Amino acid sequence: MSETDKILIPIKKEIDAFESFFRSSMQTKIPLLNIIMNYILRRKGKQMRPMFVFLTAKMLNDKIGDSTNTAASMIELLHTATLIHDDVVDESYERRGFFSINALWKSKISVLVGDYLLSKGLLLAVDNDEYDLLRIVSVAVREMSEGELLQIQKSRKLNITEDVYFEIIRKKTAALIAACTAAGAKSAGADNETVEKLHLFGEYVGIAFQIKDDLLDYQNNGKIGKPSGNDIKEKKLTLPIIHVLEKNNGTEKKEILRTIKKHHKNKKKVQDLIDYIIKSGGLDYSSQKMNEYKAKALEIIAPFPENEAKKSLIDLVDYVVSRSK
Ligand code: IPE
Ligand code: IPE
Ligand code: MG
Ligand code: MG
Repeated sequence: MSETDKILIPIKKEIDAFESFFRSSMQTKIPLLNIIMNYILRRKGKQMRPMFVFLTAKMLNDKIGDSTNTAASMIELLHTATLIHDDVVDESYERRGFFSINALWKSKISVLVGDYLLSKGLLLAVDNDEYDLLRIVSVAVREMSEGELLQIQKSRKLNITEDVYFEIIRKKTAALIAACTAAGAKSAGADNETVEKLHLFGEYVGIAFQIKDDLLDYQNNGKIGKPSGNDIKEKKLTLPIIHVLEKNNGTEKKEILRTIKKHHKNKKKVQDLIDYIIKSGGLDYSSQKMNEYKAKALEIIAPFPENEAKKSLIDLVDYVVSRSK
């Protein structure tokens, strides 16, 4: 049994329907595009976002229908688009255990394929007259672009603070997970107040999710299916290093920044820096913050009715922070 099989039990039917709908929404008549779409479909990810959509919806309403499926498919399409764009931006050549799209087809094609998937995702809402879902998800797309741009700006100057780190991850990652739980709620017929609450729930989960992703970049476990140590290589400063920088005095700080500026492509120097960050408690601090966000998220759903979907939703939040890939 895989790590998420148990979580999937209450939404098995829905996830199966989602998979075939998602598949069919990626078919096109353009031959090159079709080859790439089939390549993407062969290596599916963890599908955590559709799981968040369906479980949130089902926690609120046992009878979920097409709207929820539309929401899940839209979001997985947009997520796929952002991964393709992100690997161009991060110059990363491995994704889901195999070559990234830009490794095989270069950045020109990757940018266009990402755009294609992005428009497909948004059109799913238009085609089904789901304008509330369209609004929820479009806001997230805008925030993700802002977050990635803010991140690039900070990696150029290397002047990121902990506050700005949280702003970046809230936008580039948590906004989409917040859209999952908000759209899931909306699609199940929830009122606006409930949608807002569950949006905040998803945002806290999403922040914990990205802290975990950034931790995994430091912890080469051989399982994540994407390069580790890539963040420092791209001069992307994440919480473990930001924390160590903020607690260190002037000379050490300068030395660390110099290594990143001058030697970020030097494997040995990057590894030494990673070892130093670990020794200085950078990962422990990040884990502690991650668990704080997890606790804040769980507090929000505590008052909701107890049912199988809610149990799985809580297990999914646990999985976000305990996963090894
Ligand atoms: C990766 O997301 C991108 C981030 C926001 C960190 P996932 O870890 O959910 O990617 P897949 O879909 O499972 O490959
Ligand atoms: C998340 O950041 C990127 C997106 C919002 C798509 P990362 O750059 O850390 O994601 P990975 O590690 O490449 O999946
Ligand atoms: Mg990346
Ligand atoms: Mg990462």
